Amino acid sequence: LPANEVAAVKDTWNHIKHDEVAILEAVFKAYPDIQARFPKFAGKSLDSIKGSADFAVHASRIVSFFSEYISFLGVENTQPAIKTILNELGQSHRNRGVTKAQFEEFHQALMSYLKSHNMWNADIAHAWDDAFDKMYFVVFSAL
Ligand code: HEM
Repeated sequence: LPANEVAAVKDTWNHIKHDEVAILEAVFKAYPDIQARFPKFAGKSLDSIKGSADFAVHASRIVSFFSEYISFLGVENTQPAIKTILNELGQSHRNRGVTKAQFEEFHQALMSYLKSHNMWNADIAHAWDDAFDKMYFVVFSAL
């Protein structure tokens, strides 16, 4: 990723990375089929689960994963480490039957959240699309 895109991704991520629960809530609200994949959350109302410890733990796992991925962007010699964590993510989600279409839904939901909680423009959107493309290129190869 070019340096200006890395900066845009890091800056906008830093604005929302503490909204762990709100991010997962936004994803589940927009795409109930994602919620339905979770044995702990399937079939329950979002309002009844969003305050639970299980929900907070999972929200934190997802946000931490993105923080790790983003922390590697623009740093030299991190390609092998990035590839390893993305491959593991693809494999663990393949084992749960998660589809590429659902990963794309997740992408859309996270982008909407980012957009509504940051000063937004086309360059920032493009930077995030590149960051997701780079991420999903590896994840999908393992899915
Ligand atoms: C678990 C991250 C997308 C369903 C996890 C974990 C992480 C994670 C870090 C815990 C470690 C592991 O088991 O691998 C992410 C990221 C995503 C993503 C970064 C998008 C880029 C999705 C989608 C679905 C999904 C789209 C469903 C449609 C699950 C389920 C678990 C899980 C069911 C197991 C939860 C449990 O039983 O504790 N995810 N995930 N994930 N993820 Fe994802």
